[in-house]
Amino acid sequence: MPRMIVHVCSQCGFQSAQWHGQCPGCEAWNTLGEERLAAGGGAGRSGGRRAIRAVRGAGTSAGHRLVSRPLREVGSAPMTRMATGIGELDRVLGGGLVPGSLVLLGGSPGIGKSTITNMVLGNLQRAGHRTLYVSGEESAEQVRLRAERLAPGALEVPVLAETDLEIVLDVIAAEAPQACVIDSVQTLHAGELSGAPGSVGQVREVAGRIMELAKARGVAVILVGHVTKEGALAGPRVLEHLVDCVLQFEGERERPYRELRALKNRFGSTNEAGLFEMRQGGLVEVLDASARFVAEATRAPGSVVLAAMEGSRPLLVEVQALVAPSELEQPRRVVSGFDRNRLALVLAILSRHGRVSTGAADVFVNVVGGVRVDEPGCDLAVALAVASASSGVPVIGPHPPAPRACFGELGLTGELRWVGHPERRLEEAAKHGCAGVIAPRDSGADACEAATLLEALAEALPPQERRPARAA
Ligand code: TYD
Ligand code: MG
Repeated sequence: MPRMIVHVCSQCGFQSAQWHGQCPGCEAWNTLGEERLAAGGGAGRSGGRRAIRAVRGAGTSAGHRLVSRPLREVGSAPMTRMATGIGELDRVLGGGLVPGSLVLLGGSPGIGKSTITNMVLGNLQRAGHRTLYVSGEESAEQVRLRAERLAPGALEVPVLAETDLEIVLDVIAAEAPQACVIDSVQTLHAGELSGAPGSVGQVREVAGRIMELAKARGVAVILVGHVTKEGALAGPRVLEHLVDCVLQFEGERERPYRELRALKNRFGSTNEAGLFEMRQGGLVEVLDASARFVAEATRAPGSVVLAAMEGSRPLLVEVQALVAPSELEQPRRVVSGFDRNRLALVLAILSRHGRVSTGAADVFVNVVGGVRVDEPGCDLAVALAVASASSGVPVIGPHPPAPRACFGELGLTGELRWVGHPERRLEEAAKHGCAGVIAPRDSGADACEAATLLEALAEALPPQERRPARAA
């Protein structure tokens, strides 16, 4: 089939035979990338037509009209998952790797993508599965050096250090692995396109060709992808709808905690998150995260324990705030592990409905341990941490002086709103020795319930304690 090259805009999909610096469609700069155009089809692969022809051939004899049928009559294929041997990862995946599925694993450099994928293949290899580790980034020797630090199975994994897509596809076809890692999808190069490896056209072509082979042979593929400075998976979002599952590895390089989240999952929930710690022997699952974070909580003014939900699992994390006089005209609002716009909203609600103004002060908020919380239940913790920091009163229970936990969403009118799974949050806080939990109404008999932010503030930072701090 003759092949043509078109230039496709990665933002709006505009196609042009010529390359333009600025896309004529959406006027974005430097977004046109090369793609292969199969004769008679659209850009990329003409998979749609081919698929219809295949269905026609398989389902009906030639010449018969293709008819739809009720879902009830569609046979369900039994899905046998391969357990990766890493419990937290299996949970995020929804029970293990599905044969023939494509998983995109994103994360910034040095976060541990190569480490976890190497560990996964090591475990699978030990469990009797055939595996293949394709490294486009590092030489085989470098991959070995890493594997030496991991559990013994990691050294059993067959490795192919190659960046040429055709060779990689040939090896996958010849060795027929059951699980394969491509580290990374941005380093492979399809010879037919002249674009540099990692460009939109290349990434899409590489992933598309690998997907075809993976689906045909039932290989579970993990594509490792880098994340750009803006936090998007490089090769923009073109891969996200192609693959079955998008996993994001997060955390700070300088801190040991790593969080693995599913952003998309055709075979499981996207609510789950797994917590890991980077140690000498690779990534270790953190199963007692709540206990650790509560034990590490400082109990000082500005520190609050948040009873959060990470998917279906409760997690206690420490939220810290610092409020300091600013020397800048526009005071700083610095957050880590929490949404910056949400902080602006919480500060506005605090000032309007909680009588805690931070107008001219710098405000820093940090979710300790490099964890990111993005559920509505964390509003109250941020508000209490800021209020506690600015009043100098710690949020702790009197007898014994253990930290108090909290959760709840703040409404724009200053009300404290109900959030999901209060009973599990309360249970987790009680299990780890928190001195009571400040929570919205209807959360449970054990909670110190508050209907508004003002009530929650009165409960957490009793006025009689606040006054001496102010006078001092
Ligand atoms: P790596 O998996 O190479 O990151 P990525 O593929 O996402 O770029 O590993 C990143 C870091 O982890 C690296 O700085 C070294 C560290 N590390 C450990 O601390 N312990 C270990 O056992 C291993 C293998 C790596
Ligand atoms: Mg790597």
